[in-house]
Amino acid sequence: MARFTTEFIGACGFGIEMDTINNEHSQFRDLGKLIFTPSRRFVIFNCLMEVFPFLKNHIALMNPEIELAIRKLFEQIQKQRNYAPIGRNDFVDLLLELEKKGKMCGESIENVNKDGQPLKVEMDMDMKMMVAQLFVFFAAGFETSSSATSYTLHQLAYNPDIQTRVQEDIDRVMSKYDNKLCYEAIAEMTLLDMAFKESMRKFPSLGVLNRVCAKKYVIPELDIKLDPGVKILIPVQAIQHDEQYFDNPFEYRPERFEEDAVKDRHKFVYLPFGEGPRSCIGARLGQMQSMAGLAALLHRFTFEPSALSTPQLTVNPFANNVQGLQKIYLKITERKLKTT
Ligand code: HEM
Repeated sequence: MARFTTEFIGACGFGIEMDTINNEHSQFRDLGKLIFTPSRRFVIFNCLMEVFPFLKNHIALMNPEIELAIRKLFEQIQKQRNYAPIGRNDFVDLLLELEKKGKMCGESIENVNKDGQPLKVEMDMDMKMMVAQLFVFFAAGFETSSSATSYTLHQLAYNPDIQTRVQEDIDRVMSKYDNKLCYEAIAEMTLLDMAFKESMRKFPSLGVLNRVCAKKYVIPELDIKLDPGVKILIPVQAIQHDEQYFDNPFEYRPERFEEDAVKDRHKFVYLPFGEGPRSCIGARLGQMQSMAGLAALLHRFTFEPSALSTPQLTVNPFANNVQGLQKIYLKITERKLKTT
């Protein structure tokens, strides 16, 4: 799944074929692994920075190899596009446009003027900034979807009745669209959509969200005062496993995402993409790429537990923001598709 999502982000974001589907050791698959396999140095320094934030100005957290690889990639695409947008409207085109302007202007979401209006902010779009943007787009774009879709296949393998219903729904939609996997077809795969949402409830790619308090605030129900600068952790996974909101929370039950059930629930007890001004900017793309990958696989294959599978999966203890899973073993059998 990681190879598929890497290829997808390469095509949509960067306009390049990454050659990852058939090649486990393509340049980008290796880069992805490097980003999400933090070294001991990274883990220790990251913890130190949480406790002593001033260290941020003294320690480079990112592996210089990653920065260099992304910089080279950007320079290569810049050259291919003759240093200007080519009308492909992908992420690199947007960056090239910003590079031409030299600056990015916007409104601060945390600081306001005396009149209460948001402060205008400017950022220089230099090479370092471009590399940072590309890094986030690449890193945030593939690992989240890869982790969520792999987990979905695991859950479906352990819930064969649900898998069969999801597959029948996919088959029905695919036959309506001449067996072509298109945007409209994916939008009609309601059972797959519910199964995917239920997987992200049981195992959100980001188990915890981070915020920093911007204004003085008192949580009314608890009478807890928050000062600006206070760090807040929102325990998404714990909320999504709270039986106040999801009865029998460890059971895999996609019906929890039927329209009426969703309406009856508080909006913020399900947060796989976060919420508010810093929520996931790629939520729709992430949902679409995940559904496309799952539909393509489930249309042709059936997934079952194998001799090595375990119902409970282990999160990689070194994982940082995205909860990467340790190995998922599944048995894959080709389906006999009806040709009529
Ligand atoms: C199933 C797929 C995905 C999941 C589950 C997911 C989840 C998340 C979550 C939970 C956050 C933090 C939100 C918050 O703090 O409120 C986030 C942030 C972000 N995501 Fe995603 N994401 C997915 C796909 C993508 C894709 C495909 C892209 C872009 C190509 C993307 C780009 C980003 C970026 C840039 C941020 C940081 C936003 C900011 O800090 O303002 N994500 N994502």
